[in-house]
Amino acid sequence: MQPTSNHLLLKAINKEPIDRTPLWIMRQAGRYLPEYMDLKNKSGGFINLVKNPELACEITMQPLKRFSLDSAILFSDILIISDMFGIELSFEDNKGPKFDKTIRNDRDLSAIVQDYDVNQVRYVFDTINRIKSELNNEVPLIGFIGSPWTVATYFIEGNSTKNFNNVKKLISTDEKFLSNLLDEITKASIKYIHQQIVSGVDVVMIFDTWGGLLQGDKYLDLSIKYVNRIKDAIKNKGIPIIYYIREPREKISYIKDLEVDVIGIDSSIGLGEFRRAVGDKFAVQGNFDKDILKLDDAAIYNSVDLLLNEYGFSSGHIFNLGVGITPDIDPEKVKTLVDAVRELSPSYNKR
Ligand code: CP3
Repeated sequence: MQPTSNHLLLKAINKEPIDRTPLWIMRQAGRYLPEYMDLKNKSGGFINLVKNPELACEITMQPLKRFSLDSAILFSDILIISDMFGIELSFEDNKGPKFDKTIRNDRDLSAIVQDYDVNQVRYVFDTINRIKSELNNEVPLIGFIGSPWTVATYFIEGNSTKNFNNVKKLISTDEKFLSNLLDEITKASIKYIHQQIVSGVDVVMIFDTWGGLLQGDKYLDLSIKYVNRIKDAIKNKGIPIIYYIREPREKISYIKDLEVDVIGIDSSIGLGEFRRAVGDKFAVQGNFDKDILKLDDAAIYNSVDLLLNEYGFSSGHIFNLGVGITPDIDPEKVKTLVDAVRELSPSYNKR
């Protein structure tokens, strides 16, 4: 059994020289895979899968059985942390997540504040234990949380809104309440991610999907600050952190202050442009446009080559999509992507 630190993903995170660029795919276990849909239909839906360690482990392994990927990612969701707050989460097909209550003021908040018992999400740690033993250290396992800010947007809205009216109102009228809410989510997140690490995850990813709602210093005060607090709380564990944000262009001067190992980005900015702007502090994960997976194989190969070339001839690139893969993608195209990265990336890693 090789120590996990020898794995390609970990080496790329540390910018050590490697033979090829590692690749995994956001939402690699999910609705584009018929074997996932089968299990989901049999078990009565997404939440039932997440809360069943045996099935959640099986689903985590599904994409690894089909494709040569360089990492596993825990099958779960950033909103599962709501169990530590006693807030009930459900998912309706095509409508996204829904909570049984919203948290929009200090009174709502005081009704849910508690001591955040990780046993409420014990099924996640049982799942991690199972995955680790199935993986047998062949590839690392990524655990994850949402950033406190991104989780807060869902607690405030109570569902998957596209306009964030309540969130936007609070940003301009009640920053005090927001900081109280973020303090609480941060406390729970630290306990939760700590227990994921104890259970065996090799890398931690923090999804700040909606960090882009915050402009200027508000991004620092309401998102980055709490991410750094989580990082401080787990830094003695020696587990690398990937921070993911959409639309990072306006945020680059702040991102530079993050104390994480990798920045994951979407396709709204060129990989080369982003890398030049942030400098060499971080490894970079991303940012292949998932819609290219609807084109023919030659176009996929060509785009893979362009992206590898944009990053340049050195370690520190983790190949991934810019956003999660969607159900309209044919799994055969994922196979093409994996083959293309395996074939084309060696020449960008050897000089
Ligand atoms: O990447 C992986 O394969 C790991 C599992 C994972 C899921 N969600 C599974 C999932 C991860 C890391 C997430 C993160 C997540 N969840 C984010 C941040 C990343 C991002 O996409 O920006 C957010 C914002 C959520 C919240 C969430 N979960 C929404 C808004 C939705 C509905 C819309 C959608 O994208 O599907 C989900 C559902 C969800 N999470 C599914 C899966 C596989 C689909 C569930 C189904 O089968 O219906």
